[in-house]
Amino acid sequence: MLRESEARDRPAFIELLGSPEVGAYVGGARPPDELERTPEVPGRRVGVFVVELDGAMIGTVMLERRNLGPKDRVRPERGEVDLGYLFLPKAWGYGYAAEACAAALDWFAGACPGEPIVLVTQSANDRSMRLAEKLGFVEETRFEAFGAEQWFGVWFPGHAAQAERLADRHPGANHRGTAEG
Ligand SMILES: CC(C)(COP(=O)(O)OP(=O)(O)OC[C@H]1O[C@@H](n2cnc3c(N)ncnc32)[C@H](O)[C@@H]1OP(=O)(O)O)[C@@H](O)C(=O)NCCC(=O)NCCS
Repeated sequence: MLRESEARDRPAFIELLGSPEVGAYVGGARPPDELERTPEVPGRRVGVFVVELDGAMIGTVMLERRNLGPKDRVRPERGEVDLGYLFLPKAWGYGYAAEACAAALDWFAGACPGEPIVLVTQSANDRSMRLAEKLGFVEETRFEAFGAEQWFGVWFPGHAAQAERLADRHPGANHRGTAEG
C-alpha cells in the first residue's frame, strides 16, 4: 500500500536513512546527529509515498521535480520528475519495490498524462539498475557525479506498457533488446 507519511513512520525513516546498506550508493548512512533531527513526521512532502506492508513502513517511493541528471535533460525547461526509491534491507528481494514503483508510475501516468519520468542511479547499484529496467526505464546517458558513474534513464508511459507486453511475449528479452529488435 502507498500512503502519505505519518508520525508512526519516524523510527522506520531513521532506520532507513541510518542504514549503511541502504546508503551504499546514495551518499552513505546519515550520521546519528542528523538522524536525531528527523522531523516528527518525516517525508511529508508532495510526491513522497510511504510503502506499507502488514501495517508497517518498509520503504519510500519518491516522485519529485528535481535536477539531479546531466545538463542536457529531457525537458530541462520544466524540471523533470525524478523517481527515487529506498527500501529497508529486510524488504529486499521480494519484488515489493517493483510493485510499489509500478503503482506510483501508474498513478503518475493518470495524473500527468504523457509526461516522462527520469531516474538517476549509480550504474554500480545492481539492484537499482535491475529495478529501473524492469519498470521500463531506458538509458539516456551516463555521466560522472559524486565520484561515480551515474546512469540516467527515462520512462515514457506508453513505451513502458509496450515493453511489458513485448517482454511477456518474448520472455528473457530486456527492454532495450525489444526496443531495438
Ligand atoms: C533498489 C532497491 C529498492 C531494490 O530492491 P529489490 O527488493 O531488489 O527490488 P525489487 O522489488 O525489484 O525485487 C527484486 C527481487 O525480488 C525477487 N522477487 C521475489 N519474489 C518476487 C515477486 N513475487 N515478484 C517480483 N520479484 C520477486 C526478484 O527475484 C529479485 O531478486 P534478485 O534481484 O535477487 O534477482 C533496494 O535495493 C534499495 O532500497 N536499495 C537502497 C536504496 C537505493 O540504492 N536506491 C536507489 C536510488 S534511486
